[in-house]
Order: sequence, then C-alpha cells, then structure tokens
Amino acid sequence: MREGRFITFDGGVGVGKSTQIRLLAERLRKHTREVVTTREPGGTPLAEKLRHVVLSGQARNLGPLGEALLFSAARIDHLDRIIRPALARGAFVLCDRFSDSTRVYQGAKGGVEPALLTTLEKVTLAGCAPDLTLILDLPVEIGLARAGARRGEVAADRFEGEALTFHQGLREGFLAIAAKEPKRCTVIDAAQSLEEVAAAIWQAVEPQLAGAKKWP
Ligand code: TYD
Repeated sequence: MREGRFITFDGGVGVGKSTQIRLLAERLRKHTREVVTTREPGGTPLAEKLRHVVLSGQARNLGPLGEALLFSAARIDHLDRIIRPALARGAFVLCDRFSDSTRVYQGAKGGVEPALLTTLEKVTLAGCAPDLTLILDLPVEIGLARAGARRGEVAADRFEGEALTFHQGLREGFLAIAAKEPKRCTVIDAAQSLEEVAAAIWQAVEPQLAGAKKWP
C-alpha cells in the first residue's frame, strides 16, 4: 500500500471543486506530512501548454479522440513529474479533475469508444489510480450560473460553452461512474452550504489518514 494518498475531485461545471480542495488541503495539513494540490489538464509546464491548446479550442478539429490523446499526454507528464514523486514521498495529492473527466467529456459525451478509453486510461495511468474520487454533484442550472458569475465578461471555454443537454449528460456520466465504482468514488451533494460540503468531504477523506505518513 502506498504511504501517500491520491484523491481526485471531479464533476460538472461550477460545482465548487477548487474551493473545496483549498479547504480540504488546509484541514489535511494539520494531520499529514505534505499536501500537494494540483489540477488537470495541467500541473506541469508541458501539461499547461497542452491545456491551453485544448481549452482554447485549437484542437477541436482533432475530435474527441484527438482531445482525449492530448489530455492523456498531459496526464502522463503530470503523473511522472508531480503525482508519482509526491506519493512516493508520502504526500496527500489533491487533484482537480483527473481521468474520470476524460471518461465523461471525451467518452460518454464525446462518443469515444469506452473500450478504447479503458485501454488508453490503463496505459496512461500505468497503475497510478486514485485512492478516492469525490464526485461533486449539482443540478446543472446552478453550476452553470455559478460558473457564469465567476467568469464575468470572460468568454466560456471550449466545454463550458456547450448546450444545457451536454452538461446534463456530464452530470449523468459522473454519477454513472460513481455507481459503477462505489469503492473508489463518493458522491457529494454540492448544493449544500460550503461548510456542509466540506464536512461531507472530510467524512469521506478521514479514513484515508489511517496508515498515511504523519508528522513528525
Ligand atoms: P477548468 O477550467 O479546469 O474547468 P472546471 O473549472 O470546470 O474544472 O477546465 C478544464 C476543462 O477540461 C473542463 O471543461 C473539463 C475538461 N476536461 C476534459 O474534457 N477532459 C479531461 O480529461 C480533463 C482533465 C478535463
């Protein structure tokens, strides 16, 4: 069993992942040796470049499979340079989105063959799967309104600008993963207050402290 813990956050738009990651990191730092917060696509200079290519829409013509390959390439660099070394040090790694986003955005919604994505995920992760995935769940109208308010005048990115039915499909896709993998995934009702969401997340994360590296 690894000494570090790999926890991913996933879900639709505007569900509050980044705020909750910040709150969880603050709380975990009182209990554990090291907490690393990171995001996908991104987390390394190369992966951030790939993030820009995909989210600006420059890779749109490649189609969902091409985009899945770019997300996976970014993920390989992220795993090699940030995630695996941190887990080897015994850190808690909190990652904003991970491979479940590929399954849902490029798979369930993009139409890339599930068997192909399963193989791609297997070779990309090479054994480094999350210990726990928190699926933050929220009615899409609320999520999109929150994201719009946060963005202000800035244009929606490649995926935020999609239709309401697309976002509804994302929500269903994440819930389907959670139903299929209940040991790894916990669904969190993100329509609750900030404090209630944080408490539900803590309840799911606390058992991960058993056997993890602690101070001193
Ligand atoms: P980001 O601004 O981080 O979105 P959010 O605030 O919703 O988390 O942008 C990441 C976008 O990339 C988001 O729309 C989901 C999408 N994405 C994929 O389509 N596939 C992937 O594998 C990943 C990691 C993200």
